[in-house]
Amino acid sequence: MSRNWIAFPRTEGSASRQAHCDLPEGTFERELGREGFFGPATHMYHRNPPTGWIRFEGDLKPRAYDTTRLGVFGPTPWDASGLLHNARVKIRIWEMGNSMGQLARNADGDELLFIHQGSGHLYCDYGHLEVNEGDYIVLPRSTMWRLESEQPMRVLLVEATGGAYQLPDKGMLGPHAIFDPAVLDTPVIDERFRAQQGEDEWQVLVKRQGRVSAITYPFNPLDAVGWKGDLAPVRVNWRDIRPLLSDRYHLPPSAHTTFVANGFVVCTFAPRPFERDPGALKVPFFHNNDDYDEVIFYHAGEFFSRDNIHPGMVTWHPMGFTHGPHPKALQNAFEQKSEGTSEVAVMIDTRDPLEAGEQAGAIEWDGYVNSWKEEPNK
Ligand SMILES: [Fe+2]
Repeated sequence: MSRNWIAFPRTEGSASRQAHCDLPEGTFERELGREGFFGPATHMYHRNPPTGWIRFEGDLKPRAYDTTRLGVFGPTPWDASGLLHNARVKIRIWEMGNSMGQLARNADGDELLFIHQGSGHLYCDYGHLEVNEGDYIVLPRSTMWRLESEQPMRVLLVEATGGAYQLPDKGMLGPHAIFDPAVLDTPVIDERFRAQQGEDEWQVLVKRQGRVSAITYPFNPLDAVGWKGDLAPVRVNWRDIRPLLSDRYHLPPSAHTTFVANGFVVCTFAPRPFERDPGALKVPFFHNNDDYDEVIFYHAGEFFSRDNIHPGMVTWHPMGFTHGPHPKALQNAFEQKSEGTSEVAVMIDTRDPLEAGEQAGAIEWDGYVNSWKEEPNK
């Protein structure tokens, strides 16, 4: 039986007819929304900023982690630092100083690599791909792969546990908007790939249900001479993403969706101009994203809606927590001093609540919950 939301748009008291625009004088707008910006929502107009708390106690509090403080990494992706996880997603940080001496294979789900720093080469079942800062690489479940570094690579790893990455439905924009599927690169069987084949002994570290098994071959199993099919790793750089924008309306983060997996989405915030309509909000609106936990990895640029955040940091806003622009950013809500934002960030919105990993506590910025205060040290 199909079900419908109990939906009945009403207006009570003083409110704007158009979300995120022309707010009643002196008010702060908060969106109370379901289904991650796609379900029923109400816009409420408050006298005070909804993040104006003076005390915040308990487990719900927003977290910020400084992953630049993670210093020691093991040689394989299975040694990466686990930051946040639930049954359907695992978010990890890994730095690979030297090239991988073993092959990795994730039997638990597709793996998404986002290259925060560094460059090198990916060798996998399907061939060779160059890897550079700002690349996303989707590795289908159980692909054998290894990285060779030219510059040490720091990588954000996002495992779609038990699931697969797909492209979002582009709806009325058509399939070529944001990025054309033709910009997705796939590995090639080139000279470099052939040159790494041979009779040396190679070990494959296969992760299944979080436990690693080692399979040893007396040759390099990345020995394909060709392949055909519609399953393959893909690479796309954030520079190939042409973000949606509206001159007259602040689009929700979901407009920046890059990949969809089971139980979560990955969005990319790429540089874009600010809205110009005098009545349109020019910073994210206050909201409860009540059905999703929100995680943002800050990659590069100036993060226009947050104060005191630098590249390599991660913020986590659990569902049920109201958030929005920081006080300094809020001053620019209707008047930005520059033409656009230079921020580059990866957002991971998860349908199920996340848990922090063991290594997260050591790099947590405890003062984050107070960063919405006008004077954060009070
Ligand atoms: Fe949010």
